Amino acid sequence: KEQVRIGMLGLGTVGSGVVKVLAENGTEIEKRSGLPIRIKSIVVRDLEKERLVEVPAELLTTDAWQVVNDPEIDVIVEVMGGIEGTKDLLLTAFRNGKSVVTANKDLIAEHGDELILEATRNGCDFLYEASVGGGIPIIRPLRKDLAGNKISEVMGIVNGTTNYILTRMTQMGMAFEDALKEAQELGYAEANPASDVEGWDAGRKIAIVASLAFNSRVNFSDVDTEGITSITERDIDYAKQMGYAIKLIGSAKETENGSISAQVYPALVPQDHPLASVNGVYNAIFVRGNAIGEAMFLGLGAGQLPTASSVIGDIVEAVRNFHAGTRGKFLVDCYEQKTIQSSLE
Ligand code: NAP
Ligand code: HSE
Repeated sequence: KEQVRIGMLGLGTVGSGVVKVLAENGTEIEKRSGLPIRIKSIVVRDLEKERLVEVPAELLTTDAWQVVNDPEIDVIVEVMGGIEGTKDLLLTAFRNGKSVVTANKDLIAEHGDELILEATRNGCDFLYEASVGGGIPIIRPLRKDLAGNKISEVMGIVNGTTNYILTRMTQMGMAFEDALKEAQELGYAEANPASDVEGWDAGRKIAIVASLAFNSRVNFSDVDTEGITSITERDIDYAKQMGYAIKLIGSAKETENGSISAQVYPALVPQDHPLASVNGVYNAIFVRGNAIGEAMFLGLGAGQLPTASSVIGDIVEAVRNFHAGTRGKFLVDCYEQKTIQSSLE
């Protein structure tokens, strides 16, 4: 192979970031991945829309099926969103031998197991670092670097929009609706912002990290979820006066009887706790393991370039695996390795 060709599904906040970073850091990325990376097609809904990044018009198409069926495309980068229709597109991509990189936590929380099996069956990679924590590496550490641990807890702030809103309400006395509007303008919020403020996005992320941390399948419906819509400016003031910050916390723990308890809820965090000073769009995730002790992952949890950073890390891994002939070989995720083997036999 002389080069790897990418088909992108989506050119919104995240997709534009991917195009920008590939253009700006292309030489370094090419050295690290081992092969030149070229974008062959980009799927959008509206060909006339003004874009956040300049791309040649001939790359744009509205035909996602043509892209997942294009024999010249090696890697699909899904930064479009959506669940059922998007799943069908990605299953087809795997059946056509393409690796997939996605930022879509809704899809993984709902259908991750089915997609991982289809990727493995077809010898393709399925990578989703950007689905949790924006630019923070957390999926790869849980899949690989922390694999020697028995993990007892994963918890922290996993939604940038709500943390941004709570920060603006606390520090500037801003109204909830105004802070949400800012988060939307900055490209942090989901297409349906109810997903952020009702805690569903955080719940899906907790389901994903809990599945990885506990080698199990934790569904979104297993996560007790409460958002921040009932938090008033008065609640924030009282909390401040008593020495607390209000944060939307996601947590998953293994209980004494071996079951997993997972929740998302607004919590009073003491001002001297490290999570109290995680502000704005930052996320922070603590992982407690019996070998590492406690590790904290901190960084920008949403937005164009941080999310693109994670997507491109996955693209580099997919391209390296092409180069080395190791595609689809090391998917442990949501399953123990032996479960994958037996499903394939
Ligand atoms: P976005 O700005 O709304 O962009 C979505 C893009 O996909 C747009 O270019 C849109 O086309 C295209 N699209 C959507 N549905 C389509 C369809 N049915 N057919 C063809 N094109 C379609 O969204 P985003 O913020 O980039 O998020 C994309 C994904 O990344 C989502 O799964 C989101 O949850 C995830 N994510 C986002 C962030 C973040 O900070 N924004 C961080 C991590 C993960 P048009 O432009 O023509 O409308
Ligand atoms: N809407 C999400 C957030 C995007 O605010 O955290 C990053 O996953």
